[in-house]
Amino acid sequence: MHPAISIKNISKNYGALQALDQVSLSIEQGEFFGLLGPNGAGKTTLISILAGLATADHGHAAIMGADVQSHFREARRMLGVVPQELVFDPFFTVRETLQFQSGYFGIRNNDAWIDEIMANLDLVNKADSNMRALSGGMKRRVLVAQALVHRPPVIILDEPTAGVDVELRQSLWQFISRLNQDGHTIVLTTHYLEEAEALCQRIAMLKQGTIVALDTTQNLLSQYGSIKKDGEGKTDLENVFVNIMSGSVL
Ligand SMILES: Nc1ncnc2c1ncn2[C@@H]1O[C@H](COP(=O)(O)OP(=O)(O)O)[C@@H](O)[C@H]1O
Ligand SMILES: [Mg+2]
Repeated sequence: MHPAISIKNISKNYGALQALDQVSLSIEQGEFFGLLGPNGAGKTTLISILAGLATADHGHAAIMGADVQSHFREARRMLGVVPQELVFDPFFTVRETLQFQSGYFGIRNNDAWIDEIMANLDLVNKADSNMRALSGGMKRRVLVAQALVHRPPVIILDEPTAGVDVELRQSLWQFISRLNQDGHTIVLTTHYLEEAEALCQRIAMLKQGTIVALDTTQNLLSQYGSIKKDGEGKTDLENVFVNIMSGSVL
């Protein structure tokens, strides 16, 4: 069985800046995986390479066995990405946005599935609203819906709950957890470490373009969780994160 995502020695420079430095990582089918790291660590760059939106300078990556460069179309079809930035055509309705996305993947007559996705994301009564009329949280839901129109087995969410209210965060996680239970591989990037702790079976931590920790959430918590208690009100995974990022355990 192919890994859901295979990353081998990926490097990426922007001018003098090394955004990714020899990153290797394999994510198995069915995993709920967390990709964590401070701003600028290289998370979005890595996701962009997987989605074919950026090209690595060195190394290879594959989605379900399909190389993201030499077999771009197959790889892209296997992948749904919820991007970090909210980018839409403001004059399309929600339904049109999703139909357009289906067309991009060459899928016709996708309305039954689009209706089902909208129902699951509580978007039904916004189906005919223009994108520009939606709140930030609603736009975020449409981004999630957009990532799912072609039924990809692998779904990557790049900070999907940034600036989103608690209620939406919870309903979003219920939905994503169900997709994972149905067999989808989920990769999540988030600044809410309590979310990552609750949801992710395995976690990679990225710092300045390098993986500095990679293990099950349980092992990370038991190995790095209690070395340096850093104030009150922090979850265990926040402790792990602080310890690893400060280099005090490496
Ligand atoms: N298109 C780009 N041009 C130049 N530098 C970039 C570009 N995209 C990202 N970077 C830089 O690469 C580094 C990694 O960024 P990014 O992948 O967005 O990190 P993260 O998503 O972990 O916050 C940062 O220093 C960022 O400024
Ligand atoms: Mg990012």
